[in-house]
Amino acid sequence: MSYLKVTFVFSLFFYGSVIGFDYWTIAQTWPAGFCTHNVCDATKPKPLKFTIHGLWPSNYTTHQPAFCLSSNLNPTLIHGIVLKLDQDWPSYNSNNSHFWNYEWKKHGTCSHMSELDYFTHTLDIYTRNDLQQILKHANILHGNTYDIQHFITAIHTSQVGAEPQLICTKGDLIEIRLCLNKNPVPEYIKCPPPPPKTACPANVSFV
Ligand SMILES: *[C@@H]1O[C@H](CO)[C@@H](O)[C@H](O)[C@H]1NC(C)=O
Ligand SMILES: *[C@@H]1O[C@H](CO)[C@@H](O)[C@H](O)[C@H]1NC(C)=O
Repeated sequence: MSYLKVTFVFSLFFYGSVIGFDYWTIAQTWPAGFCTHNVCDATKPKPLKFTIHGLWPSNYTTHQPAFCLSSNLNPTLIHGIVLKLDQDWPSYNSNNSHFWNYEWKKHGTCSHMSELDYFTHTLDIYTRNDLQQILKHANILHGNTYDIQHFITAIHTSQVGAEPQLICTKGDLIEIRLCLNKNPVPEYIKCPPPPPKTACPANVSFV
């Protein structure tokens, strides 16, 4: 239902305007890895699944679109999906509303979408695939260390069907990013290499 709605909104939008970015990135956090290297709020649950960091209009050059408009997110516009956002798009080290506002200002304002469409669209893409389950099916289990190619192959040969970007801090996996084209119904595409400072080593620790 919401998938169809988003597709419709997207079609209207893509056929009617020029967009100042090359592809989409959906960044998904591995909470245990993230909280190994960031001060996380002890009162917040750390689920054993990947959760949304953000959906980013991205460019192949080093200049990434960011902060395209200065308007703050009006929380009443996303009121109807806030429970879903609390569940799938939590912050582990700040207030969820502040995190969504930051992601909206930095990335959402470059998407040419309304607030509600941007957050709904991100949830729709996120729910297409469960990265933790994909890794589990390939026998990649947290608590172990694996060759980086294991992760990449597992995702490439899953329904995602495209190579992800892996992001590490000191060898620990903290995030997986998937890339999508700008088709009316966006399809996964191979991600470019990650920024060198955040790239994973040959052996990735999945904490
Ligand atoms: C990103 O790329 C698009 C098209 O390829 C271009 O129009 C836009 O100016 C670029 N943005 C930045 C910040 O370089
Ligand atoms: C989070 O921020 C919002 C908006 O600033 C505020 O209404 C809410 O009380 C804050 N929640 C917590 C748990 O601090």
